[in-house]
Amino acid sequence: MLKFIEDELEGIKREGLHRSLRCVEGHQGARITLDGKECINLCSNNYLGLANNPQLKKAAIEAIQKYGSGSGASRLVCGSLKLHHELENRLAKFKKHEAALVFNSGYVANLGIITALVGPGDIVLSDKLNHASIIDGILLSRAEFKRYPHKDMQALQRFLEGAKDYKRRLIVTDTVFSMDGDIAPLSDIVGLAKKFDAMVMVDEAHATGVFGETSSGIVEHFGLKDEIDIEMGTLSKAVGCFGGYVSGKKKLIEYMINKSRPFIYTTALPPSVLASSLAAIDIIEKEAWLRKTLWSNTWFLKRGLIDLGFDLMGSESQIMPILVGDADKAVKFSRILLEEGIFIQAIRPPTVPRGRSRLRLSVMATHNKEDLKKALKVIEKIGKRIGIIS
Ligand SMILES: Cc1ncc(COP(=O)(O)O)c(C=O)c1O
Repeated sequence: MLKFIEDELEGIKREGLHRSLRCVEGHQGARITLDGKECINLCSNNYLGLANNPQLKKAAIEAIQKYGSGSGASRLVCGSLKLHHELENRLAKFKKHEAALVFNSGYVANLGIITALVGPGDIVLSDKLNHASIIDGILLSRAEFKRYPHKDMQALQRFLEGAKDYKRRLIVTDTVFSMDGDIAPLSDIVGLAKKFDAMVMVDEAHATGVFGETSSGIVEHFGLKDEIDIEMGTLSKAVGCFGGYVSGKKKLIEYMINKSRPFIYTTALPPSVLASSLAAIDIIEKEAWLRKTLWSNTWFLKRGLIDLGFDLMGSESQIMPILVGDADKAVKFSRILLEEGIFIQAIRPPTVPRGRSRLRLSVMATHNKEDLKKALKVIEKIGKRIGIIS
């Protein structure tokens, strides 16, 4: 009966797309110990290095001592702890919105927000390179689903022109694209949304803590705070913790509490995660030097890689893809780099389109220049050896 599993696994292996788990020992840092070997970590989303910050750890420990390890129930039963409310108020202030609501991960937030907003009879216009959690949320909503080519505003306009008869129109986009590191044309999207009476939802997963005067993200960076209806983010990347959230008007949050099944039917996040997230947001807001250091490291590495001749696919952020093309070659590149002490994951289909396999490199504020210089030297050596650069 389970023969199909073996057959499918064989097929995945034949195509060079097989995946397996590695074991990280110790903490998530600029250097990590992977399967027993220490290496320079260039693939973490812990952009500000907060996942191992002493203040976050202290906050989590104190919360466990005070409130225990679990929340006991879903939010609408008896699991809505004071810490949830504190974190939501803090997030709303940080995001300069009326209110916020926490979900159990970024993935769950996208599922929960989209399925509450749209259903049969509605239409969602989604950038072709949006994150899988957005795609899954749309599929689960059973709304009509149109994917416009990446950042193609003429195509989005054409789709909107043809969408006038739907009950609701929702445009949804990553702000910083997770596998490409480029930025959505948000001002144009907002203009089109106004013209065609559509809602706009943005996913700030990779922008929060990295962009904007107070580090709140791309919406702030573009000065569009009053124009975006629904802002989603995660606590798992630059925030260094775990969980997801939505922010916006009070009525939006009240609506989510009443309509979002992935919010309603699950046990609430535990105290430790909430307390460390609160501590992280304080640090992100107050300690702008962290964001500035991240950007200094980003420019250092980006300039170095471009000078060496690598194609970074138009990266505009701390996420830098190195285009390889062939999946097997990307895996080989990653494997040899790791043998030399540099950890950068290869990203292959179905995460990215066929023929667009790449190394997805990401920078952290806690990298030091010596490690970045060493990484550049090794990437150059291996890139030449396997024919990515000449
Ligand atoms: C753009 C984007 N949205 C949402 C998510 C999901 O967030 P989380 O990892 O917190 O579930 C991710 C992370 O993988 C992401 O890259």
